[in-house]
Amino acid sequence: MARLLETYIFVLAPTSLGNLTDPNADRSLKLVTDYYGAIWWWNVCQARVKGTKKEPSVLISEGAFVLVRQILKPFERTQTCSCPFSAGHLPHVCWGKAALPTIFSCTYLKKAWHTIKTMVNLPVISPFKKRYSWVQLAGHTGSFKAADSGKILKRFSENEKECFERLMKDPLRSCVPCFHGVVERDGESYIQLDDLLTDFEGPCVMDCKMGIRTYLEEELTKAREKPKLRKDMYKKMIEVDPLAPTAEENAQHAVTKPRYMQWRETISSSANLGFRIEGIKKADGTCNTNFKTTKTQEQVLQVFVEFIEGNTTILKKYLKRLQEIHIILESSDFFKRHEVVGSSLLFVHDGSGNANVWLIDFGKTTLLPDGQTLDHRIPWQEGNREDGYLLGLDNLIRILESITER
Ligand SMILES: Nc1ncnc2c1ncn2[C@@H]1O[C@H](COP(=O)(O)OP(=O)(O)OP(=O)(O)O)[C@@H](O)[C@H]1O
Ligand SMILES: [Mg+2]
Repeated sequence: MARLLETYIFVLAPTSLGNLTDPNADRSLKLVTDYYGAIWWWNVCQARVKGTKKEPSVLISEGAFVLVRQILKPFERTQTCSCPFSAGHLPHVCWGKAALPTIFSCTYLKKAWHTIKTMVNLPVISPFKKRYSWVQLAGHTGSFKAADSGKILKRFSENEKECFERLMKDPLRSCVPCFHGVVERDGESYIQLDDLLTDFEGPCVMDCKMGIRTYLEEELTKAREKPKLRKDMYKKMIEVDPLAPTAEENAQHAVTKPRYMQWRETISSSANLGFRIEGIKKADGTCNTNFKTTKTQEQVLQVFVEFIEGNTTILKKYLKRLQEIHIILESSDFFKRHEVVGSSLLFVHDGSGNANVWLIDFGKTTLLPDGQTLDHRIPWQEGNREDGYLLGLDNLIRILESITER
């Protein structure tokens, strides 16, 4: 709570995002507000600023910015605020501590919302469409931008673009968001994808990261040749388990990225089940990404039970779709010829019984050398590039089946 009360609510025009400075680095900025009766959560900033350049952590549309300003107008400070995140000249609005108790009306003061890490809601408002909220459950904040007409923009990566180009010609096309090419916005490139939430009314969303391995073999090699020590990852590690770092890591106050990723795999269900739950957003807008230590089959099953809230129609639809995805994967040339690392299955359903699953995130999916294929079930040994994707899918299907049999 102390941490919460120290937090400033802060809304920025998109133009100012690149310029934030934070003398008190590592402070989190979060915003919770009401919007037309629906709850929005914005985890505005994980303000880890080095020097003067701030990694943009949230992108909100101009329309959303204007609406939030209207809602929070009564709390706006007119004097030059003492917000430590302001560089003075930036177009920004800041609400001081005094406003917090009112804005964070009782519902959310009780929530352990420090556990809610990377959810960003992007309201897309268009006169031609029904209103809906786009939600980002995982991944790097600042990687997405709102787009009109049922599409989203994801920060460009050549690798992911090439994967989508190949996917559009593969049987897997029906299991991934449709790719609409590359677009430029404010001098940055983005890949344009279908927004998978468009056809849902108040969607519940779950992101499951697939595979037993969540880092690339080449990342291991790089870390060995030229170890880059990450203090941020060390910090995240001791937040979960102060006993996890080795004596050497404690002395350095840092870990390498593959070491952190491997540790994340073992504390979650990635290593034992071949997938892990990254985050869930429920219909009421609440969001939880605190599944780092959800590891056993029973724990995972419990999370699924709560996610579907006992709705057997939804459960059966999910199961059917997963089985269909399984068959398509077995027939996919793309799947055979790629090491699929860090990709997720996105589960989406709503109160009307609409439910579906898609494969997303191909940022780390890598084409194998000519002639090489993967089994996706063989245990990983360095050099064989196996990812354990099908092990994970088999387990997921088995767990959902066991819920239907209860
Ligand atoms: N096409 C889509 N439609 C709707 N939501 C999406 C779509 N793509 C991604 N998302 C949302 O954004 C989140 C992050 O997506 P993604 O994993 O592609 O990003 P990333 O920055 O590459 O993340 P990571 O850190 O896992 O590499 C997903 O969990 C999901 O909630
Ligand atoms: Mg992802």
